[in-house]
Amino acid sequence: MKQSYSPHKLNKFILLLCCSILFINCKQDQKSEKIEAATTLKDAYKNHFLMGTAVNDGQITGKDSLGVQLIKEQFNTITPENSMKWMFMEPQQGEFNFEMADRYIDFSEKNNLVFIGHNLVWHSQLAPWVAEIDSKEELHNSLKNHVQTIASRYKGKIHGWDVVNEALNEDGTLRNSVFLEKLGPEYLTNAFKWAQEADPNVELYYNDYNMTQPAKRAGAIKLVKNLKEQGAKVDGIGMQGHWSLEGPSLQEIEESIIAYSELGVKVMITELDITALPNPWDLEGAEVSQNFEGSEFMNPYTEQLPDSVSNKLAKRYQDIFALFKKHQDKISRVTFWGVNDGQTWLNNWPIDNRTNYPLLFDRQFKTKEAYHSVMQVAKDSTF
Ligand code: XIL
Repeated sequence: MKQSYSPHKLNKFILLLCCSILFINCKQDQKSEKIEAATTLKDAYKNHFLMGTAVNDGQITGKDSLGVQLIKEQFNTITPENSMKWMFMEPQQGEFNFEMADRYIDFSEKNNLVFIGHNLVWHSQLAPWVAEIDSKEELHNSLKNHVQTIASRYKGKIHGWDVVNEALNEDGTLRNSVFLEKLGPEYLTNAFKWAQEADPNVELYYNDYNMTQPAKRAGAIKLVKNLKEQGAKVDGIGMQGHWSLEGPSLQEIEESIIAYSELGVKVMITELDITALPNPWDLEGAEVSQNFEGSEFMNPYTEQLPDSVSNKLAKRYQDIFALFKKHQDKISRVTFWGVNDGQTWLNNWPIDNRTNYPLLFDRQFKTKEAYHSVMQVAKDSTF
């Protein structure tokens, strides 16, 4: 017998089908929301290493409320992106300005965030008066005063200090900064010793870029060995991770993590960001004084990142985090240099006004494909 459907029956069937589809979709949404809500970067990596970000003044003053929300949700350690650098802390000789730095410390205490001080001694973002000092003795005393005043003010409140930032050239020799030129290499040992005297329990780090390159790596190892031989305490090495889609290679990163760890210090990946934009000069590292002319060719993704590049970025982050996970016994912290793509310094370095995409959160504070690949590495036992 031929079966016939009445319009009434058919309507009922369609209604039921729609309800089921709605129900399944709803379930799936709930499930993905649950995954998003239950796991964050800091939770996903809590058994491996600290997960951090650089924070800026807009976040500390609360203007960037969405940024603050992400910081609290996703990270357990912060580093001030600019406000604790010499030009802000001691703009005039002997005149310190603690206002913003104090607010950063308050923010970290209120939100239970491990605080990393950045930095005490660096040739960039230095107050102009420092370079004008002629006498060796005066510069020695000024450096001592700078390190001791700041380290003692925040004694007990800071987990670790980038005591010296970027003291090496790419060939591993000491950079000819105003400090080296006038004070000789002793300035390095002194800076570490003064910081330790001021705050005996704080961790002390040497931090630099291109730390994966063999010549610079050898220089960093020699530097840390010398510092230790001269009685300075060095607790860790910060490898700034201003990297690209192509380099450094995983092998170079891995060899460096192992080599630094063999010095008996903690290894930290500091300042992690992966540029997605062209780099025709094959520029490596992060010398902040570099500045090049822009063009349309240099700034190709002004509207959005194409899927092909987004996939590459996610894969690069996945590979890098798989490596970090493999060496979790050596790595104590991974810190991103900024919260979202709209805020990264790479929109203005080494060319002004570009649209870059180096972080895990997009300009709307939404998680990117790269975020999910980093989370995947933490969850998946095959990595
Ligand atoms: C950068 C900041 O992100 C920028 O806002 C600022 O204009 C220049 O400095 N290495 C470091 C960081 O140790 O302090 C630098 O931060 C990036 C390179």
